[in-house]
Amino acid sequence: MWPDRRLLALFKTEFPIVLAPMAGIMDADLVIAAAQGGALGSLPCAMLSVEKAREQVSIIRQRVSAPVNMNFFCDKAVDADPQREAAWKKRLAPYYQELGLDPAAPVNAANRAPFDAAMCALIEELKPEVVSFHFGLPDQALLTRVKAAGCTVIANATIVREAIWLEENGADAIIAQGAEAGGHRGMFLTENIHEQPGTFALVPQMVDAVKVPVIAAGGIADGRGIAAAFALGAAGVQIGTAYLRCPESKVTGPARTALAQARDDATAITNVMTGRPARGVANRVMREIGPVLPDAPPFPHAATAFGPLKAASEKLGKVDFTNLWAGQAVRLGREMPAAELTRALAGAALARLSRMAG
Ligand SMILES: Cc1cc2nc3c(=O)[nH]c(=O)nc-3n(C[C@H](O)[C@H](O)[C@H](O)COP(=O)(O)O)c2cc1C
Repeated sequence: MWPDRRLLALFKTEFPIVLAPMAGIMDADLVIAAAQGGALGSLPCAMLSVEKAREQVSIIRQRVSAPVNMNFFCDKAVDADPQREAAWKKRLAPYYQELGLDPAAPVNAANRAPFDAAMCALIEELKPEVVSFHFGLPDQALLTRVKAAGCTVIANATIVREAIWLEENGADAIIAQGAEAGGHRGMFLTENIHEQPGTFALVPQMVDAVKVPVIAAGGIADGRGIAAAFALGAAGVQIGTAYLRCPESKVTGPARTALAQARDDATAITNVMTGRPARGVANRVMREIGPVLPDAPPFPHAATAFGPLKAASEKLGKVDFTNLWAGQAVRLGREMPAAELTRALAGAALARLSRMAG
């Protein structure tokens, strides 16, 4: 028995486990597999057009009868500053030269866009059971429409102050994203990455501060981590990194190898890849110019100049400029179909919880 059943009631899933939305490395396939295994499947929409998001949800609905979570970014969009972009390109010029690329050639802008009215209309059309937000919440008017569509709203907090803000502004459950977590830090009321608490310290303090259920995230990758999250007062877990090597993820060959070889000390928080702090396995550019640079262009513009570098380097089988987003528990990830992994995670957690109770 799960010690806390609030998430099961809220999401109507078999297990209190959320497959983390992971923009850029997954699509409907991983959502479907995790949902078939009993988790809440999350579709990352930050890098999708409205049409693509609609198509993906339709694929999910055709293949599995389970609740679905659509995930969006809520950053305040900032225009690219040509001067800063030029300085960034200059900084990366030696890499362009090394790969025989023309730094002056036009590049497609980074394709990450915050939640907007068009996506909100899609939510009203598709009515996903759950909508989750990263980097805060959308404007009140849009959030009211999401709630009116009947969606449960969950959002990421990296410090207690953010959790309180999210609860006051309408979140039905809060994801406590500890510093161990892979991917972008969901921080939105703070900018200091050095002050970000780890999952073990964050979860109980957040549980004490808010009434809504807290979902622990960051560094949880097996039954022990899930049981620990419940011991800390969480009502469930959101897990990303542990699913990266599932066959249904879209992590490409060389990145898959880098993840498989990564150890406990392989990751770092960096802002050079996109302009926002995110945790990933340290790649060459993070090591050589970062991991943190105050003059990286703001999110998501820092990513634009990496497009050609990433493509050229990956053609050579390298991940020098590839985002290898992953959390500190990357070593615990397993190469296993996601449905099977979900059931294994839940089974191991329940066994450990019952042993702890006995
Ligand atoms: C590859 C990758 C991509 C991510 N992309 C997103 C995203 O698009 N939206 C989001 O809310 N969180 C994203 N995250 C963060 C996860 O929601 C979650 O906080 C994290 O995976 C939990 O820590 P763990 O990776 O240690 O399990 C991403 C994480 C990873 C590893």
